[in-house]
Amino acid sequence: MTYPYTRYLAAKKTVDDRALNSRVLADLRRLVPPGACRVVEIGAGLGTMVARLLERQVLSSGEYVLLDVDPQLLRDSRGWLCAWAADRGVGTELLPDGVRLGELRVRLVEAEIGDHLASGGGEPADLLIANAVLDLVDVPAVLPGLLRLVVPGGAYWFTVNFDGETVFQPDHPADDDVLTAYHRTMDQRVRFGRPAGDSRTGRHLFHQLRDAGAPACSVGASDWVVHPGPDGSYPGDEAWFLEAILQTVEEALTGPTAPAGLADWLATRRAQLAGGELVYLAHQLDLAGRSPARPAVPG
Ligand SMILES: C[S@@+](CC[C@H](N)C(=O)[O-])C[C@H]1O[C@@H](n2cnc3c(N)ncnc32)[C@H](O)[C@@H]1O
Repeated sequence: MTYPYTRYLAAKKTVDDRALNSRVLADLRRLVPPGACRVVEIGAGLGTMVARLLERQVLSSGEYVLLDVDPQLLRDSRGWLCAWAADRGVGTELLPDGVRLGELRVRLVEAEIGDHLASGGGEPADLLIANAVLDLVDVPAVLPGLLRLVVPGGAYWFTVNFDGETVFQPDHPADDDVLTAYHRTMDQRVRFGRPAGDSRTGRHLFHQLRDAGAPACSVGASDWVVHPGPDGSYPGDEAWFLEAILQTVEEALTGPTAPAGLADWLATRRAQLAGGELVYLAHQLDLAGRSPARPAVPG
């Protein structure tokens, strides 16, 4: 795993495993048709969610589209998914456009979300997933198109939507300045020529989904909570996950408008990470529901 973002997403899996709201997931199970299912996941990254849904027996067969703009992640996902499957005795077969995991055909699609929607979005699925992604797009602009990626009345599961609170412990005198400025960069972010973020995505989604005719029927918190154990070590590769979060803050803020105290804040946080002291929390929300049923055709 030489691509740092691949290692970050692999390390994030155990953090998300703990964070995902189990009640919302239980409600989602009732929204998904039994048997073979067609799923599309936008901003799917390495494909850790497809692995998780197989582990938790939410899915077992059908087709799962992993859509992402980053071709390196999609290339790495084949290897990551095959290694995951080998560890669990799940049969795999490499396909020209993806990989088969047991009875589930995983298709890799390289596309930017806005471009994908503009080009029609392909065959509608039964379930649309976005994990840790909707806080990276202009939700009001893309939501109606996203909901058309599923059949009328099909399910959506929008998870790990950042919602305005980042906490590091122990307290540092520059916390408020650094984290307020960091959240502001999310609100001002532009990617692929489009607005790309909202530091309060989670809470805003509730009414945005209502306005789009797809009110959530299940909502719950999915906060990231990362802390060292009593021996000062972090689970799995979560120390790397925390370093990647610190790098994200650093890259977002470095420049002429960097808050005073940023350098000391970063050095202190890195020392706390190395010393097995750093705790990190991010408040997030999961929402599940159904896409609008198609309006009745006038007789
Ligand atoms: C925080 S990562 C989450 C990845 C994966 N869902 C997970 O939770 O492991 C966000 C992902 O969205 C992708 N992404 C961001 N903006 C995108 C866009 N406009 N179109 C398609 N993919 C996008 C990135 O390449 C990245 O893989």
